[in-house]
Amino acid sequence: MSSQRTILVTSALPYANGPIHIGHLVEYIQTDIWVRFQKQRGHTCYYVCADDTHGTPIMLKAQQEGIAPDALIERVHKEHQADFADFGIVFDQYHSTHSDENRAYSTLIYQRLRDAGHIESRTITQAYDPVKAMFLPDRFIKGECPRCGAKEQYGDSCEACGATYAPTDLKNAVSVVSGEKPIEKESLHYFFKLPDFTGMLAEWTQAGHLQPEVANKMTEWLEGGLQAWDISRDAPYFGFEIPDAPGKYFYVWLDAPIGYMASFKALCDRIDIDFDRYWVADSNAELYHFIGKDIIYFHALFWPAILTGAGFRTPSAIYAHGFLTVNGEKMSKSRGTFIKARTYLEHLNPQYLRYYFAAKLGDGIEDIDLNFEDFTQRVNSDLVGKVVNIASRCSGFIKKRFDNVLSDCCDQPELWQRFIDAQESIAELYENREFGKAMREIMALADLANQYIDERKPWVIAKQEGAEQELHDVCSMGLNLFRLIVAYLRPVLPELAGEAERFLQIGPQPWPVDAQPLLNHRIEAFKPLMTRVEPDKIEAMIAASKEHLEPAKNQAASEIEPIADTIEFADFAKIDLRIARIVKTQAVEGADKLLQLTVDLGGDTRTIFAGIKSAYAPESLEGRLTVVVANLKPRKMRFGVSEGMVLAAGPGGRDIWLLSPDEGAQPGMRVK
Ligand code: 2FM
Ligand code: ZN
Repeated sequence: MSSQRTILVTSALPYANGPIHIGHLVEYIQTDIWVRFQKQRGHTCYYVCADDTHGTPIMLKAQQEGIAPDALIERVHKEHQADFADFGIVFDQYHSTHSDENRAYSTLIYQRLRDAGHIESRTITQAYDPVKAMFLPDRFIKGECPRCGAKEQYGDSCEACGATYAPTDLKNAVSVVSGEKPIEKESLHYFFKLPDFTGMLAEWTQAGHLQPEVANKMTEWLEGGLQAWDISRDAPYFGFEIPDAPGKYFYVWLDAPIGYMASFKALCDRIDIDFDRYWVADSNAELYHFIGKDIIYFHALFWPAILTGAGFRTPSAIYAHGFLTVNGEKMSKSRGTFIKARTYLEHLNPQYLRYYFAAKLGDGIEDIDLNFEDFTQRVNSDLVGKVVNIASRCSGFIKKRFDNVLSDCCDQPELWQRFIDAQESIAELYENREFGKAMREIMALADLANQYIDERKPWVIAKQEGAEQELHDVCSMGLNLFRLIVAYLRPVLPELAGEAERFLQIGPQPWPVDAQPLLNHRIEAFKPLMTRVEPDKIEAMIAASKEHLEPAKNQAASEIEPIADTIEFADFAKIDLRIARIVKTQAVEGADKLLQLTVDLGGDTRTIFAGIKSAYAPESLEGRLTVVVANLKPRKMRFGVSEGMVLAAGPGGRDIWLLSPDEGAQPGMRVK
């Protein structure tokens, strides 16, 4: 094994204004597996995280609930910790960005940056809510798109046409907080001079700290030129006041990554670790940040620049992952696939999800899909049907005929050795975050073990006279192989591993580099280690996650627009509606909301841009039928020409439904 390493690992800090959901869990489960693997290999590895507690949304959420922000973040902190613990996600420290440690490091870093000349200030103009007496972040302003006139668009970009603009460009803009028209107001802001680090970042981003696809993205961003980053916000704001600027606060995204250090500092103080050893500029400890691909900019540009500017070390690597889709589509509250960690736990065994995510995860940033049929099939066939089955097939005879004591001889030393030899490649896959491939290797071993039992047929030997020794040897061999499989699965299934170790009467298994078979060893009676996934539990979980938008009173009502003025039949008759088949779907680079669809109208192929990305994963649409306005004049959009319009309904966000005709319809058919 490689020599002892010293490693610090983080996952992104979840915001303290909402519950953990299964989308979050991809990352925490991924990181927890990796950390458990490192620990099992005997390395010194600490895993820290914290709640991300500052910023306007948290301040407003507390106001809505009529409580102080401190009370809100304290409550959420407890909920998050319980959710993580129940999924077997074990942090060495779970802290808060609203902590003394974080205030101290945020202040120190700011002062070092300022003293080195990396902070500048200037006056900027921003939208301001005169009723609430606060500046408004872009997403707290809504109005009509300055280009296409679409209503209810956020202050930064239009979901309908893809235009991007300043919030001050919106027509009939209102503050989401008070409903008032925002005014423009000047204020002094503090900026981190990111361009000072252009050279450093050009080198750092290409030096093997990033996944190749992420490094490429960085090159694009760097070529586009870097701009100073606004790190201050005006009161009222829930955060840390900037030391030499009363009434100004650190923007939440400044103190959030510093929260990694703060959480680690709390750990150092608690169990007496040398903080500096991990964070000095020339530290030889390893530092890894696991994050979602949406926050790469913060971690691969701002964060290394800030650390360098403040005289600290930079990360050894940033590991980004993709988003979670459920049954091929974005998680959706109305479809019941926006599943909270707690709701999942009320219905299903957390180990199923840990295994399923492991089986789907690789080292890249592609999205991963949770398909519930595949989930059921995979867990039942791999874990229950293959792994646990080995123990249940062998343990009965050991108990009945051999008083729960294993044989004193290893029946197949070569087979044992083959299982041991697999440790190297399985370890390499875990190390490289190729968990899906690791699971496949481990399942191939489980297949081998089952094959061995199938060939030797202990149930037949058991009936033969004078074959006691063989029966004993074969069943003991089976259990010894089971033990190695469990050792390999330990990072993913710590609970199953723990129960198996109790059954086998052994301690927590280290990585089995030089494990020896258990001979003449007493075990416990076998108890079933895992039961099958029950499909009705999945249905119940989805039903419990469904949020029905009551049109009578809640926000859905305000999202149903009033019906427009009547039109002449002749006007309606001009609209040529056709059935189209979506043949290809692509994300549009630089547009968060748009998908580029290639549709077939019965021989006539068109490109149409549709603002439906928030509701549909691109792959889920290919092959589906929809209705399009076929004679809409082609419109030039920022990303290309749109040759028609697809018809969809819904308030927006995840709740958009494409009008999908029955499969009997044919592309090109007129819709009347
Ligand atoms: O995107 C998010 O959910 C942020 N709360 C992540 C912060 S990660 C780190 F930088 F603190
Ligand atoms: Zn628009």
